Amino acid sequence: MSQILIVSGTGTDVGKTIATAAIAANALIAGKSVSVVKPGQTGVSGNEPGDLHVVAELTSTIPGAAQRLLLHEYGRYEPALAPASAARISGAPALARSEVLRSIQALTSDLIVVEGAGGLLVRYSDDPAWTIADLAHDLNACVLIVVHAGLGTLHHSTATIEVATHRGLDIAGLIIGSWPDQPDLAQRSNVADLQRLGVPLVGAIPSGSGNAREFEHIARTSLHPVLLGTFNEADFTHTHTQELNR
Ligand SMILES: Nc1ncnc2c1ncn2[C@@H]1O[C@H](COP(=O)(O)OP(=O)(O)OP(=O)(O)O)[C@@H](O)[C@H]1O
Ligand SMILES: [Mg+2]
Repeated sequence: MSQILIVSGTGTDVGKTIATAAIAANALIAGKSVSVVKPGQTGVSGNEPGDLHVVAELTSTIPGAAQRLLLHEYGRYEPALAPASAARISGAPALARSEVLRSIQALTSDLIVVEGAGGLLVRYSDDPAWTIADLAHDLNACVLIVVHAGLGTLHHSTATIEVATHRGLDIAGLIIGSWPDQPDLAQRSNVADLQRLGVPLVGAIPSGSGNAREFEHIARTSLHPVLLGTFNEADFTHTHTQELNR
């Protein structure tokens, strides 16, 4: 039976695609077959590269990736908006929840990773309205929440966790999508505070991780063993917060 992970986040541009690629990379390295699904891709037209292209690029050096990685996009819209808004404005049909669900349920890879658009409550359709949170519920899938590192992330992360919990979703953990070389006070302090939210920190991906040659190493060291990496939450916290503790 396939394992299904939903990669959502606190918003757009938080590093969901990089996190998705890292999760896929570790599974591919472990010999698994992987399907990566971006149900609704916005902000690109025609054959322009979207998020799935980034996943393919970053995993391209992994032996067997060409055979064992499958990429699925069910709708694309040129306006760089939420999928429901982009569909409305471009006059294209919005994605239907039941069809997306059926398509994902038909996949047979060992691991299925579904990357949402923006955050958990972004709509794919207005009437009837549905979001990636609804899809996670339909699929009974674990949710990963990719968060940003800096000031503001505590509210965004708390709000997202509350929504997921309220809906009965199973949260697999938080991933910091882009961890800077030289974290500022807020970023360092957030490492400990994010772990006070009752959800494990299961990864932190260094900023500047967009290089395929180094990506296998990055994926392994940035993600927790539950995501087939070697990331250690306690070591990471100790490294970045030790001089904050009095
Ligand atoms: N760890 C990282 N290393 C290098 N670049 C990063 C990292 N995290 C994010 N970026 C860059 O920041 C931008 C946004 O990241 P990404 O595309 O992963 O966000 P997203 O959450 O998937 O956004 P969307 O909602 O559009 O899908 C991209 O240009 C990406 O290359
Ligand atoms: Mg993305």
